[in-house]
Amino acid sequence: MADVLSEEISLAGNLLAKRVQDLVVQGEEPPKPYLCREDNDSISALAPIPTIDVGLLTEASSVANSDELQDLKSALCKWGCFQVVGHGMPSSLLDGMRKVTREFFEQPMEEKRRYAKGVNEYEGYGADPVPEEGQPLDWQDRLALTVYPEDNRNLRFWPENPSSFREVVDEYSSKLKAMTKLLSKAMAKCLDLEENSFINQFGEKEEFVMRFNYYSPCQMSDRVMGLKAHSDGTSYSLILQDQVQGLQILMDGTWLTVPADPEAILVLIGDQMEIMTNGTFKSPVHRVVSNSDKDRISIAMFYSPETGKEIHPEDGLISEENKPILYKPVKNYGEVYWVYYNKGQRSIHTAQV
Ligand code: OGA
Ligand code: NI
Repeated sequence: MADVLSEEISLAGNLLAKRVQDLVVQGEEPPKPYLCREDNDSISALAPIPTIDVGLLTEASSVANSDELQDLKSALCKWGCFQVVGHGMPSSLLDGMRKVTREFFEQPMEEKRRYAKGVNEYEGYGADPVPEEGQPLDWQDRLALTVYPEDNRNLRFWPENPSSFREVVDEYSSKLKAMTKLLSKAMAKCLDLEENSFINQFGEKEEFVMRFNYYSPCQMSDRVMGLKAHSDGTSYSLILQDQVQGLQILMDGTWLTVPADPEAILVLIGDQMEIMTNGTFKSPVHRVVSNSDKDRISIAMFYSPETGKEIHPEDGLISEENKPILYKPVKNYGEVYWVYYNKGQRSIHTAQV
């Protein structure tokens, strides 16, 4: 039995060593572990996800119940996500990010393999760590990089080609990091908490990991999944999309498509923020479907508390009468998150009281 299992795992490991882009270039059909879909719901309605102007949020800082803050609160309680506009990042920077990502993935495999990750590691070029037996593989290739704390950057994984890659990623990351400060304050204020409540919980050495996702087209797009259903284990995630739809969010049992707005940054609440808000903000389940004729790029920034820092539900969001405490304090949530993720399961229940 153990042998069969290790054989299956090494089979999946071998399969993962061959990237999705290889399969597409060689005209191969998706191998069995990629064939995971039978549902026929790839055509789904657009999700009316709220759009929030971060400039207005900042101006609203002195007015606790301004319209913008109330819109933010209702977006995060209902959807667990919103599209940020008014972020001040020029289109040239957002286009630059998509351009270097595309150029990286369009290079020959030998070049990309210079940044290859081990099958059971997270950082670098490749796919997710080998999932457990029977779990499907994603029709996707990716590059993951730790960007902050800056001391933790592992430059051996940072592509040298295209030549502007590092510079563009550095500029975008620092702007995005600055924006999280404004967003985290607004998230606290819209819940009537002291504005630094979440920032203090995240700690000084908060962690930002960037993941560049390349979704190849697939002739059998109704049978494969670009990225399997999951919630994020982060505090929250910031996603830059291109103009191709594919990301879907589960709302009351129905998959809805997130509009693809190349100028907006999608903010998606992760499990750790659901814990810190004592369940007030929702960490939504989402997935990426694949497309039969277009490729798709997305760049996700995963924002998480400092390693080793304990996080907990905010006192102001707990009351004996109507809001009992739902979650225990947790630390290094990412570790338990990945154990469950590899089994295709959520992990937030492990934090419930
Ligand atoms: C993720 C994710 C969405 C996308 O990387 O966790 O949900 O659009 N990505 O690629
Ligand atoms: Ni996600």
